[in-house]
Amino acid sequence: MCNMKRSLSGIKPTGNLTLGNYIGALRGFKKVQEEYESFIFVADLHALTLPIDPQALRSNTKDIVAFYLAAGLDVNKTSIFLQSDVPAHSELNSILINYLYMGELSRMTQFKDKSAKMNHEAIGVGLFAYPVLMCADILLYQPDIVPVGEDQRQHVELCRDLVHRFNTRYSKEIFIMPKAVTPKVGARIMSLSDPTKKMSKSDPKGDIFLKDEPNVIRKKIMSAITDTGSDIFYDPENKPGISNLLQIYAALSDISIEEAQAKFKDIHQYGEFKKIVADKVLEELVPFQERYKEFLNNKTINDVLNAGKDKARYFANKTLTKVKKTVGLYVHE
Ligand code: AMP
Ligand code: TRP
Repeated sequence: MCNMKRSLSGIKPTGNLTLGNYIGALRGFKKVQEEYESFIFVADLHALTLPIDPQALRSNTKDIVAFYLAAGLDVNKTSIFLQSDVPAHSELNSILINYLYMGELSRMTQFKDKSAKMNHEAIGVGLFAYPVLMCADILLYQPDIVPVGEDQRQHVELCRDLVHRFNTRYSKEIFIMPKAVTPKVGARIMSLSDPTKKMSKSDPKGDIFLKDEPNVIRKKIMSAITDTGSDIFYDPENKPGISNLLQIYAALSDISIEEAQAKFKDIHQYGEFKKIVADKVLEELVPFQERYKEFLNNKTINDVLNAGKDKARYFANKTLTKVKKTVGLYVHE
Protein backbone atom coordinates (compact mmCIF):
# COMPACT_ATOMS: atom_id res chain seq x y z
CA MET A 1 0.00 0.00 0.00
CA CYS A 2 2.65 2.54 1.07
CA ASN A 3 4.62 2.13 -2.13
CA MET A 4 1.62 2.82 -4.29
CA LYS A 5 1.57 6.07 -6.19
CA ARG A 6 -0.91 8.56 -4.84
CA SER A 7 -3.80 10.45 -6.40
CA LEU A 8 -5.84 13.39 -5.10
CA SER A 9 -8.85 15.27 -6.39
CA GLY A 10 -11.97 17.09 -5.25
CA ILE A 11 -15.20 18.74 -6.33
CA LYS A 12 -16.80 21.95 -5.02
CA PRO A 13 -20.27 21.61 -3.50
CA THR A 14 -21.55 24.72 -5.23
CA GLY A 15 -24.59 23.46 -7.09
CA ASN A 16 -26.08 20.62 -8.94
CA LEU A 17 -23.44 18.32 -10.38
CA THR A 18 -23.58 17.93 -14.15
CA LEU A 19 -22.76 15.34 -16.74
CA GLY A 20 -19.59 17.43 -17.28
CA ASN A 21 -18.50 16.77 -13.69
CA TYR A 22 -19.39 13.13 -14.11
CA ILE A 23 -17.44 12.53 -17.29
CA GLY A 24 -14.59 14.97 -16.62
CA ALA A 25 -13.96 13.93 -13.03
CA LEU A 26 -16.21 11.55 -11.07
CA ARG A 27 -16.21 8.68 -13.50
CA GLY A 28 -12.44 8.57 -13.63
CA PHE A 29 -12.04 8.44 -9.85
CA LYS A 30 -13.19 4.83 -9.73
CA LYS A 31 -10.50 3.66 -12.15
CA VAL A 32 -7.80 5.65 -10.42
CA GLN A 33 -8.36 3.94 -7.07
CA GLU A 34 -7.38 0.60 -8.63
CA GLU A 35 -3.86 1.82 -9.32
CA TYR A 36 -3.28 4.61 -6.85
CA GLU A 37 -3.70 5.24 -3.18
CA SER A 38 -6.55 7.65 -3.61
CA PHE A 39 -7.75 10.73 -1.71
CA ILE A 40 -10.98 12.36 -2.84
CA PHE A 41 -12.47 15.26 -0.94
CA VAL A 42 -15.34 17.71 -1.02
CA ALA A 43 -13.92 21.21 -1.55
CA ASP A 44 -16.38 22.84 0.82
CA LEU A 45 -14.14 25.78 1.78
CA HIS A 46 -13.84 26.57 -1.92
CA ALA A 47 -17.63 26.74 -2.10
CA LEU A 48 -17.51 29.85 0.12
CA THR A 49 -15.57 31.85 -2.48
CA LEU A 50 -18.89 33.02 -3.96
CA PRO A 51 -21.99 33.69 -1.84
CA ILE A 52 -23.87 30.47 -1.09
CA ASP A 53 -26.89 29.65 1.05
CA PRO A 54 -25.71 27.70 4.15
CA GLN A 55 -28.45 25.12 3.85
CA ALA A 56 -27.62 24.56 0.18
CA LEU A 57 -23.94 24.16 1.00
CA ARG A 58 -24.74 21.49 3.60
CA SER A 59 -27.03 19.51 1.36
CA ASN A 60 -24.73 19.83 -1.68
CA THR A 61 -21.91 18.47 0.46
CA LYS A 62 -23.87 15.36 1.43
CA ASP A 63 -24.91 14.98 -2.18
CA ILE A 64 -21.32 14.90 -3.39
CA VAL A 65 -20.36 12.23 -0.88
CA ALA A 66 -23.32 10.12 -2.03
CA PHE A 67 -22.27 10.72 -5.65
CA TYR A 68 -18.73 9.60 -4.86
CA LEU A 69 -20.05 6.37 -3.38
CA ALA A 70 -22.52 5.88 -6.23
CA ALA A 71 -19.67 6.34 -8.72
CA GLY A 72 -18.01 3.30 -7.18
CA LEU A 73 -15.51 4.81 -4.79
CA ASP A 74 -14.55 2.13 -2.32
CA VAL A 75 -13.60 3.37 1.14
CA ASN A 76 -10.95 0.68 1.40
CA LYS A 77 -9.18 2.20 -1.59
CA THR A 78 -10.13 5.85 -1.43
CA SER A 79 -10.21 8.17 1.57
CA ILE A 80 -13.28 10.36 1.17
CA PHE A 81 -13.27 13.47 3.34
CA LEU A 82 -14.32 17.09 3.73
CA GLN A 83 -11.75 19.81 3.19
CA SER A 84 -13.09 21.64 6.28
CA ASP A 85 -12.52 18.51 8.40
CA VAL A 86 -8.77 18.75 7.89
CA PRO A 87 -7.47 22.02 9.39
CA ALA A 88 -4.09 21.49 7.72
CA HIS A 89 -5.63 22.74 4.43
CA SER A 90 -6.21 26.18 5.94
CA GLU A 91 -2.87 26.15 7.75
CA LEU A 92 -0.85 25.29 4.68
CA ASN A 93 -2.87 27.87 2.76
CA SER A 94 -1.65 30.54 5.23
CA ILE A 95 1.93 29.58 4.48
CA LEU A 96 1.67 29.10 0.71
CA ILE A 97 -0.14 32.40 0.18
CA ASN A 98 3.25 34.03 0.61
CA TYR A 99 4.82 32.08 -2.23
CA LEU A 100 2.39 32.93 -5.03
CA TYR A 101 2.17 36.25 -6.80
CA MET A 102 -0.68 38.66 -7.52
CA GLY A 103 0.33 38.66 -11.19
CA GLU A 104 0.03 34.93 -11.69
CA LEU A 105 -3.23 34.67 -9.74
CA SER A 106 -4.80 37.47 -11.76
CA ARG A 107 -4.04 35.54 -14.96
CA MET A 108 -6.08 32.49 -13.96
CA THR A 109 -8.87 31.94 -16.48
CA GLN A 110 -11.38 30.81 -13.86
CA PHE A 111 -10.78 33.97 -11.82
CA LYS A 112 -11.04 36.17 -14.90
CA ASP A 113 -14.31 34.51 -15.98
CA LYS A 114 -15.90 34.60 -12.56
CA SER A 115 -14.85 38.13 -11.70
CA ALA A 116 -15.57 39.63 -15.13
CA LYS A 117 -19.20 40.33 -14.29
CA MET A 118 -18.48 41.60 -10.79
CA ASN A 119 -17.87 45.06 -9.40
CA HIS A 120 -14.09 45.23 -9.07
CA GLU A 121 -14.29 46.71 -5.56
CA ALA A 122 -16.36 43.79 -4.34
CA ILE A 123 -14.42 40.80 -5.63
CA GLY A 124 -13.77 38.53 -2.67
CA VAL A 125 -10.18 37.92 -1.63
CA GLY A 126 -11.05 34.23 -1.39
CA LEU A 127 -12.09 34.11 -5.03
CA PHE A 128 -8.80 35.68 -6.03
CA ALA A 129 -6.75 33.41 -3.78
CA TYR A 130 -8.71 30.28 -4.72
CA PRO A 131 -5.73 28.60 -6.45
CA VAL A 132 -3.57 29.01 -3.33
CA LEU A 133 -5.96 26.90 -1.29
CA MET A 134 -6.08 24.46 -4.17
CA CYS A 135 -2.27 24.19 -4.05
CA ALA A 136 -2.53 23.45 -0.32
CA ASP A 137 -5.21 20.79 -1.00
CA ILE A 138 -2.95 19.08 -3.46
CA LEU A 139 0.44 19.37 -1.81
CA LEU A 140 -0.62 18.11 1.63
CA TYR A 141 -1.08 14.64 0.15
CA GLN A 142 2.04 14.63 -2.06
CA PRO A 143 0.10 13.09 -4.95
CA ASP A 144 1.67 11.92 -8.19
CA ILE A 145 -1.48 12.69 -10.13
CA VAL A 146 -4.46 15.04 -9.86
CA PRO A 147 -7.38 13.78 -12.01
CA VAL A 148 -9.44 16.79 -13.19
CA GLY A 149 -11.36 18.17 -16.15
CA GLU A 150 -9.57 20.42 -18.63
CA ASP A 151 -10.68 23.65 -16.91
CA GLN A 152 -8.63 22.80 -13.80
CA ARG A 153 -5.40 22.09 -15.64
CA GLN A 154 -4.23 25.69 -15.34
CA HIS A 155 -4.57 25.57 -11.56
CA VAL A 156 -2.52 22.39 -11.39
CA GLU A 157 0.11 24.01 -13.63
CA LEU A 158 0.30 26.89 -11.17
CA CYS A 159 0.78 24.36 -8.39
CA ARG A 160 3.65 22.83 -10.34
CA ASP A 161 5.27 26.28 -10.62
CA LEU A 162 4.89 26.65 -6.87
CA VAL A 163 6.50 23.27 -6.21
CA HIS A 164 9.45 24.23 -8.33
CA ARG A 165 9.75 27.63 -6.62
CA PHE A 166 9.44 26.20 -3.12
CA ASN A 167 11.82 23.29 -3.61
CA THR A 168 14.39 25.56 -5.24
CA ARG A 169 14.13 28.14 -2.50
CA TYR A 170 14.83 25.56 0.23
CA SER A 171 17.14 23.37 -1.90
CA LYS A 172 15.21 20.24 -0.97
CA GLU A 173 12.46 18.16 -2.48
CA ILE A 174 9.83 19.23 0.03
CA PHE A 175 6.94 18.69 -2.37
CA ILE A 176 6.56 16.00 -4.99
CA MET A 177 5.73 17.37 -8.44
CA PRO A 178 2.02 16.61 -9.13
CA LYS A 179 0.66 16.08 -12.61
CA ALA A 180 -2.84 16.93 -13.91
CA VAL A 181 -4.50 13.96 -15.57
CA THR A 182 -7.51 14.65 -17.76
CA PRO A 183 -9.68 12.02 -19.46
CA LYS A 184 -8.63 11.27 -23.05
CA VAL A 185 -12.20 11.82 -24.17
CA GLY A 186 -14.61 14.13 -22.35
CA ALA A 187 -12.24 16.50 -20.53
CA ARG A 188 -14.45 19.40 -21.57
CA ILE A 189 -18.14 18.67 -22.02
CA MET A 190 -19.98 21.57 -23.59
CA SER A 191 -23.42 23.06 -22.89
CA LEU A 192 -26.28 21.47 -24.81
CA SER A 193 -27.89 24.87 -25.38
CA ASP A 194 -24.67 26.60 -26.45
CA PRO A 195 -21.98 24.08 -27.41
CA THR A 196 -19.35 26.79 -27.63
CA LYS A 197 -19.55 27.17 -23.84
CA LYS A 198 -18.51 24.71 -21.14
CA MET A 199 -21.28 22.80 -19.37
CA SER A 200 -21.23 24.44 -15.93
CA LYS A 201 -23.49 24.13 -12.92
CA SER A 202 -25.61 27.18 -13.66
CA ASP A 203 -27.46 26.70 -16.93
CA PRO A 204 -30.61 24.58 -16.47
CA LYS A 205 -31.25 24.34 -20.22
CA GLY A 206 -27.76 23.48 -21.34
CA ASP A 207 -26.82 21.25 -18.42
CA ILE A 208 -27.65 17.67 -17.76
CA PHE A 209 -27.83 17.51 -13.99
CA LEU A 210 -26.98 14.21 -12.37
CA LYS A 211 -30.23 14.49 -10.41
CA ASP A 212 -32.46 15.19 -13.43
CA GLU A 213 -35.30 12.71 -13.98
CA PRO A 214 -34.58 10.31 -16.88
CA ASN A 215 -37.33 11.82 -19.04
CA VAL A 216 -35.87 15.29 -18.51
CA ILE A 217 -32.41 14.06 -19.50
CA ARG A 218 -33.79 12.51 -22.66
CA LYS A 219 -35.67 15.68 -23.52
CA LYS A 220 -32.59 17.85 -23.04
CA ILE A 221 -30.51 15.64 -25.32
CA MET A 222 -33.21 15.45 -27.97
CA SER A 223 -33.42 19.25 -28.02
CA ALA A 224 -29.63 19.86 -27.89
CA ILE A 225 -28.57 22.61 -30.28
CA THR A 226 -27.04 21.24 -33.46
CA ASP A 227 -25.96 22.75 -36.74
CA THR A 228 -27.50 22.38 -40.15
CA GLY A 229 -26.62 19.20 -42.01
CA SER A 230 -27.34 15.59 -41.28
CA ASP A 231 -24.03 13.73 -41.10
CA ILE A 232 -22.38 12.70 -37.86
CA PHE A 233 -18.72 13.56 -37.65
CA TYR A 234 -16.34 15.27 -35.25
CA ASP A 235 -15.59 18.87 -36.14
CA PRO A 236 -15.75 21.01 -32.99
CA GLU A 237 -15.30 24.23 -34.91
CA ASN A 238 -18.03 23.83 -37.51
CA LYS A 239 -20.23 21.24 -35.81
CA PRO A 240 -19.83 21.98 -32.08
CA GLY A 241 -23.20 20.50 -31.08
CA ILE A 242 -22.75 17.18 -32.87
CA SER A 243 -19.12 17.00 -31.78
CA ASN A 244 -20.14 17.46 -28.17
CA LEU A 245 -22.72 14.67 -28.36
CA LEU A 246 -20.17 12.42 -30.05
CA GLN A 247 -17.74 13.20 -27.25
CA ILE A 248 -20.36 12.30 -24.62
CA TYR A 249 -21.15 9.03 -26.39
CA ALA A 250 -17.49 8.09 -26.82
CA ALA A 251 -16.59 8.91 -23.20
CA LEU A 252 -19.45 6.86 -21.77
CA SER A 253 -18.67 3.95 -24.12
CA ASP A 254 -14.94 4.03 -23.30
CA ILE A 255 -14.07 4.34 -26.98
CA SER A 256 -12.19 6.96 -28.98
CA ILE A 257 -13.92 9.74 -30.91
CA GLU A 258 -12.84 8.02 -34.16
CA GLU A 259 -14.47 4.77 -33.09
CA ALA A 260 -17.66 6.60 -32.14
CA GLN A 261 -17.66 8.41 -35.47
CA ALA A 262 -17.31 5.11 -37.34
CA LYS A 263 -20.33 3.70 -35.50
CA PHE A 264 -22.53 6.50 -36.79
CA LYS A 265 -21.30 6.69 -40.37
CA ASP A 266 -24.53 5.24 -41.76
CA ILE A 267 -26.83 7.48 -39.75
CA HIS A 268 -27.89 10.61 -41.58
CA GLN A 269 -30.45 11.96 -39.19
CA TYR A 270 -29.64 13.95 -36.11
CA GLY A 271 -32.81 12.75 -34.34
CA GLU A 272 -31.79 9.12 -34.65
CA PHE A 273 -28.27 9.91 -33.45
CA LYS A 274 -29.54 11.90 -30.47
CA LYS A 275 -31.77 9.03 -29.44
CA ILE A 276 -28.80 6.66 -29.33
CA VAL A 277 -26.79 9.18 -27.30
CA ALA A 278 -29.71 9.62 -24.89
CA ASP A 279 -30.01 5.83 -24.47
CA LYS A 280 -26.30 5.66 -23.66
CA VAL A 281 -26.48 8.46 -21.10
CA LEU A 282 -29.51 6.88 -19.41
CA GLU A 283 -27.97 3.43 -19.41
CA GLU A 284 -25.18 4.89 -17.31
CA LEU A 285 -27.02 7.45 -15.20
CA VAL A 286 -30.18 5.58 -14.20
CA PRO A 287 -28.39 2.91 -12.12
CA PHE A 288 -26.02 5.59 -10.86
CA GLN A 289 -28.99 7.64 -9.63
CA GLU A 290 -30.44 4.62 -7.87
CA ARG A 291 -27.20 3.99 -6.03
CA TYR A 292 -26.98 7.68 -5.15
CA LYS A 293 -30.44 7.63 -3.58
CA GLU A 294 -29.59 4.56 -1.54
CA PHE A 295 -26.40 6.10 -0.17
CA LEU A 296 -28.14 9.36 0.61
CA ASN A 297 -30.81 7.60 2.62
CA ASN A 298 -28.71 5.27 4.68
CA LYS A 299 -26.42 6.31 7.47
CA THR A 300 -23.08 5.50 5.87
CA ILE A 301 -22.17 9.06 4.90
CA ASN A 302 -21.04 10.17 8.36
CA ASP A 303 -19.10 6.95 8.92
CA VAL A 304 -17.36 7.36 5.58
CA LEU A 305 -16.44 10.96 6.39
CA ASN A 306 -15.15 10.11 9.86
CA ALA A 307 -12.88 7.37 8.56
CA GLY A 308 -11.68 9.57 5.69
CA LYS A 309 -11.02 12.48 8.02
CA ASP A 310 -8.72 10.43 10.25
CA LYS A 311 -6.63 9.12 7.40
CA ALA A 312 -6.49 12.49 5.63
CA ARG A 313 -5.43 14.28 8.83
CA TYR A 314 -2.65 11.81 9.37
CA PHE A 315 -1.11 12.40 5.92
CA ALA A 316 -1.82 16.11 5.83
CA ASN A 317 -0.29 16.78 9.24
CA LYS A 318 2.88 14.97 8.30
CA THR A 319 3.37 17.25 5.30
CA LEU A 320 2.37 20.34 7.25
CA THR A 321 4.96 19.66 9.94
CA LYS A 322 7.63 19.17 7.31
CA VAL A 323 6.73 22.48 5.68
CA LYS A 324 6.60 24.34 8.99
CA LYS A 325 10.09 23.11 9.85
CA THR A 326 11.35 23.98 6.40
CA VAL A 327 10.21 27.59 6.49
CA GLY A 328 11.50 28.09 10.03
CA LEU A 329 8.39 27.92 12.18
CA TYR A 330 9.29 26.60 15.63
CA VAL A 331 7.83 23.10 15.79
CA HIS A 332 7.91 21.60 19.27
CA GLU A 333 6.33 18.65 21.04
P1 AMP B 1 -16.28 21.92 -10.18
O1 AMP B 1 -17.70 21.73 -10.47
O2 AMP B 1 -15.77 23.21 -10.75
O3 AMP B 1 -15.93 21.71 -8.74
O4 AMP B 1 -15.52 20.78 -10.98
C1 AMP B 1 -15.30 19.50 -10.49
C2 AMP B 1 -14.55 18.68 -11.51
O5 AMP B 1 -15.36 18.50 -12.68
C3 AMP B 1 -13.25 19.33 -12.00
O6 AMP B 1 -12.26 18.33 -12.18
C4 AMP B 1 -13.63 19.94 -13.31
O7 AMP B 1 -12.55 20.07 -14.20
C5 AMP B 1 -14.63 18.91 -13.84
N1 AMP B 1 -15.59 19.55 -14.78
C6 AMP B 1 -16.43 20.57 -14.50
N2 AMP B 1 -17.16 20.91 -15.59
C7 AMP B 1 -16.73 20.08 -16.59
C8 AMP B 1 -17.09 19.93 -17.99
N3 AMP B 1 -18.02 20.69 -18.56
N4 AMP B 1 -16.45 18.97 -18.70
C9 AMP B 1 -15.51 18.17 -18.13
N5 AMP B 1 -15.13 18.27 -16.83
C10 AMP B 1 -15.73 19.21 -16.07
N1 TRP C 1 -10.92 23.78 -8.07
C1 TRP C 1 -11.56 22.53 -8.34
C2 TRP C 1 -12.80 22.79 -9.19
O1 TRP C 1 -13.34 23.85 -9.18
C3 TRP C 1 -11.92 21.79 -7.08
C4 TRP C 1 -10.69 21.56 -6.29
C5 TRP C 1 -10.31 22.23 -5.15
C6 TRP C 1 -9.66 20.63 -6.59
N2 TRP C 1 -9.12 21.76 -4.73
C7 TRP C 1 -8.68 20.78 -5.58
C8 TRP C 1 -9.50 19.68 -7.61
C9 TRP C 1 -7.52 20.01 -5.57
C10 TRP C 1 -8.30 18.91 -7.59
C11 TRP C 1 -7.34 19.09 -6.58
O2 TRP C 1 -13.21 21.91 -9.86
